[in-house]
Amino acid sequence: MTTALPFLAAPRTHAPLQIASDALGLPILRSSDGTSYNVVRGVPIFVNSDSGDAGHDTTHRAAEFEEMYQSLSEPWKYSGRMAEVLRHEFVSALAPSVCPAPEWVLDLGCSVGQLSAHLGKHFPRIASLDVSATAVWKAQEYCTSMNTRSNATEFAFVVGSATELPFASESFSLVVASDGLFGWELSEAAQKEVVSEIVRVLKPGGVAIFTDYLGHKKFDRLFRLIDQSPLRRESTEYLHDRLWYQMESWFHLIQNTSFAKAILRNRPLALGLRGIARLLGARASKHVCVVARKEAR
Ligand SMILES: C[S@@+](CC[C@H](N)C(=O)[O-])C[C@H]1O[C@@H](n2cnc3c(N)ncnc32)[C@H](O)[C@@H]1O
Repeated sequence: MTTALPFLAAPRTHAPLQIASDALGLPILRSSDGTSYNVVRGVPIFVNSDSGDAGHDTTHRAAEFEEMYQSLSEPWKYSGRMAEVLRHEFVSALAPSVCPAPEWVLDLGCSVGQLSAHLGKHFPRIASLDVSATAVWKAQEYCTSMNTRSNATEFAFVVGSATELPFASESFSLVVASDGLFGWELSEAAQKEVVSEIVRVLKPGGVAIFTDYLGHKKFDRLFRLIDQSPLRRESTEYLHDRLWYQMESWFHLIQNTSFAKAILRNRPLALGLRGIARLLGARASKHVCVVARKEAR
């Protein structure tokens, strides 16, 4: 990182950041109030997920997610589970239809970068944030290797928490929080902080896309969180993936066999199950997706 990204700001204070060097000559970001943040492998770090103390912080549970990424190469095995691949494709195809030309897209909780890479096929600049540094470095490697567009996508990676975003207010026209508000294992108060942080960093008229794995009886939890904020729900989509997850549960005990892996990775099968589930309506969805907009000035 040779120049500070235009939207970076100190978490909580939102003070502007300048690039500087520490006593060893390593790059850091320094805020106008004197706080400094490390930059490792070109990635600014706003959460210390390695510190034992972070494990006691119930606001963002950084240490727990970091540990998961250090011990497992791909914690949710998304790349081998076709319902998740279809979900990433669904969100990244929906995004340009609700926000056609954002300068930067913010992908919150980017994990190892699969959704960011999909978004990069549709948009020229993607900022990806996760609370785990290991996840972000994996995402950086993955998105760089997948970046095959002739007009290459610009990716920026940040280690930080969605509960206290290290970004200036009104920086983004599109924020994606995909598995997501409920997948981050936050208290209800922290979920509300995330929504208000998303509202803060959205430009007036900007759009947030939320997805979560909840099941139809709990979809209203997500609707309520959004309705309690200044965001206005514009549309709700159901991913019709319940039959696929039902099928996955049958293979749980033999999930590491090549037969089960082939079934879970089978695209025509996943599309077929989605087609049947669509006939059954919202009840046949585990995932819900909400598009919500901040009022234009
Ligand atoms: C279930 S994965 C979802 C990954 C991806 N967004 C997707 O849709 O496939 C949740 C990710 O959110 C990250 N995460 C958890 N708490 C977070 C927080 N407070 N702020 C930012 N990311 C967080 C986790 O480290 C994990 O990588």
